[in-house]
Amino acid sequence: MLGLTHLYSGKVRDLYAVGDDHLLMVASDRLSAFDVVMNETIPSKGRVLTGLTNYWLHEVESPVANALVSCNPFEIETYVPGFADATSLHGRAMLVRRADMLPLECIVRGRLAGQAYEEYQRSGTVHDMAVPAGLALTDAFPTPMFTPSTKADEGHDVNISLTAAAAIVGDAVLAEAQAICLSLFERAAAQLATAGLVLADTKFELGYVDGVLVVCDEVLTPDSSRIWPADAIRSGENPPSFDKQPFRDWLSAQPWDKTPPPPPVPAEVVAITAQRYVDCYEAVTNRPLSDWYGS
Ligand SMILES: Nc1ncnc2c1ncn2[C@@H]1O[C@H](COP(=O)(O)OP(=O)(O)O)[C@@H](O)[C@H]1O
Ligand SMILES: [Mg+2]
Repeated sequence: MLGLTHLYSGKVRDLYAVGDDHLLMVASDRLSAFDVVMNETIPSKGRVLTGLTNYWLHEVESPVANALVSCNPFEIETYVPGFADATSLHGRAMLVRRADMLPLECIVRGRLAGQAYEEYQRSGTVHDMAVPAGLALTDAFPTPMFTPSTKADEGHDVNISLTAAAAIVGDAVLAEAQAICLSLFERAAAQLATAGLVLADTKFELGYVDGVLVVCDEVLTPDSSRIWPADAIRSGENPPSFDKQPFRDWLSAQPWDKTPPPPPVPAEVVAITAQRYVDCYEAVTNRPLSDWYGS
């Protein structure tokens, strides 16, 4: 594509080398669940993921060091000749510094949900760590928790304790990652709170660029986060969230064993899911998606 070498396709993103030091990361409209990619795509999803990442890397109070160079098609053109005319990529592509990725998914949890809730029900712990007894689904932890998981090349990521994470990257690197992630989480959560939104949890990916640990990949998107309308939260109940929940609800009602091939996703589920992504972009940024590149 545009003469670039294709390096990797993840579930959602396609990565291309731009010289030795940069990557073009293109967020597709692919939708995945349980690590399986559906056959249908969600219109505008890739632009929402990229637009939100760009928003959070620039518009959080005191922005965090990160790998993003630009999403602006005319700036990308200076690195990737021909990009300005490749309008189907506009808004979904990010030019980034190529990083040496930390082999951890850096999850931060402010509230009890998802896999952490399942573990808590089983054992009263979260990533093998002690938390208060008597918490219900959606309840807040006393303070946000840094809860890494492994980054599996094959199969599912596994939630691990801080001790296990330190055994992978070392105490000093883990402490630095924790500080970066908790601080970004707290700033983002405070900013979302002013819009009536609760950041329940999110996943960051960090990597080294020129020896500095920086935030990479997608940032605070509906694919990497749970974001809830504050006024819809009821302790013990699953709140409506700006994410794939309607799709997951539909999927869990299907007779599917969570291995490929996935079941066909009906048009109305595609439409509701697409609307959730657009709503998320607009609620978080307070801007219409039509103002973002690639409209
Ligand atoms: N700046 C970067 N340098 C190198 N790799 C990166 C950078 N940012 C993100 N990545 C990697 O690119 C991939 C993004 O593609 P994605 O579709 O999200 O993959 P996955 O299915 O593995 O989550 C991830 O493996 C992520 O770790
Ligand atoms: Mg990913």
